[in-house]
Amino acid sequence: MANTEAHGRGNWNSTLGFVLAAAGSAVGLGNIWGFPSQVADNGGAIFILIYLICCFAIGLPVMIAELTIGRHTKKNPVGAFRMLGKGPLAPLIGVWGLICGVMILAFYLVVSGWTLAYVIEEILYYFGHRDLAAVVGNLEHGTKNAIFSVLFMLATITIITGGISNGIEKATKMLMPVLIGLLLIMIFYVLTLEGAMDGVRVYLMPDFSELNTGVVLSAMGQAFFSLSLGMGALITYGSYISKNQNIVQSATYVTLADIGIAFLAGFLIIPAMYVALSSGIDILDAEGNLVRGTQLVFIVLPEMFHNMGGLGLVAGVAFFTLLSLAALTSTISLLEVPVSYAIDEHRITRRKAAWGIGGGIAVLSVIVSYNINLIDVLVSVFNEIGLPLGGLMICIFLGYFWKTENALLEISKGYENVGESSFGAIWSFFIRYICPLLIGLVFISTIYSMLPWFG
Ligand code: TRP
Repeated sequence: MANTEAHGRGNWNSTLGFVLAAAGSAVGLGNIWGFPSQVADNGGAIFILIYLICCFAIGLPVMIAELTIGRHTKKNPVGAFRMLGKGPLAPLIGVWGLICGVMILAFYLVVSGWTLAYVIEEILYYFGHRDLAAVVGNLEHGTKNAIFSVLFMLATITIITGGISNGIEKATKMLMPVLIGLLLIMIFYVLTLEGAMDGVRVYLMPDFSELNTGVVLSAMGQAFFSLSLGMGALITYGSYISKNQNIVQSATYVTLADIGIAFLAGFLIIPAMYVALSSGIDILDAEGNLVRGTQLVFIVLPEMFHNMGGLGLVAGVAFFTLLSLAALTSTISLLEVPVSYAIDEHRITRRKAAWGIGGGIAVLSVIVSYNINLIDVLVSVFNEIGLPLGGLMICIFLGYFWKTENALLEISKGYENVGESSFGAIWSFFIRYICPLLIGLVFISTIYSMLPWFG
């Protein structure tokens, strides 16, 4: 077993193990601060409704497509498209995925590092190492970013070198339930605090006046990023699934888990913002909108936790531990893509691939650490354009070159007669027509919205 893990490709041990690993990849910083702040910003429940439609109309069909390509070829994204496609262009879809994954990981590590820094600083302080805590706290920003993103990469590499069933599967099987447990405890706690119910109201009351094309497009973009689609991460994870697994069922579980955790996170973050407001912290920006993204989680929340005294410290450490764990199961999936490529295509051992490629990406994240403005540029190019473009190419490739009939034949290996079922017909229709159309729309309008940035 250990031998196959080191030199062969390895497999998930169980369906549950795979579902948890894929859900771990999906659930990350995107769910815990991305989703809640988008909801708060885009009209509350109306955004949630559109987001749900996007997850099921685009996300789920594309997820099934990626997993099917992965299981059929048993290869990394580049190898998979080379095997299925005829011309020299097909592998480029995989190459594009690799590039997106590497660049996303480079900044994702920096943000993940912030969560880790908070946990370590607070723990040092709590256990009386105030001088050490102060050293960490007073580090110059770039240096602090760099140290913690590299530490985060070390944790990621350690798990990846363990292989599929012993590394990724074992780690996520343990981390995912801890994450859900922590999330629930924190929600119950925050909901008892003053001001929390105002947040719940904002979260669940649809504000129809906010509905516009921008909201629809953000919902689609969020669905893409949150479900880890468009760069072959799920082709790679799919390549470790056994032939008797029902891909459609597994993909549905992963999608539901991702949506469920994002929805739960909203019950934590949005009420927490209003708790902060009632304790005198300003959570509205100059235009009267809720503060978003990095600011929200890394400035407002720590301030709130500090104002809460001793219990706030525990809650703060618990919350940022939760974010770190969610981020870790996502960085694992991002690093696994280029690592599986190196193992398959260049016959390198898993250990060498993980350290070599992980080390290279750590260097990139150090560059981002000292040039924090790069994050916005990387998000625009690789998340907002890169992932939809990848997803679009995957749908077109599967729908018109590999053909949905062949994909359905692969899916039928864990889901009998799917080819004759109405589900099979609907999925094919979505892959060939609906998804490319909708993704194309996201893609075009993203470029359109970036025009001022280019010119
Ligand atoms: N889905 C993760 C999140 O919500 C991020 C992520 C992990 C990702 N792997 C991915 C995004 C692959 C796109 C592709 O934070």
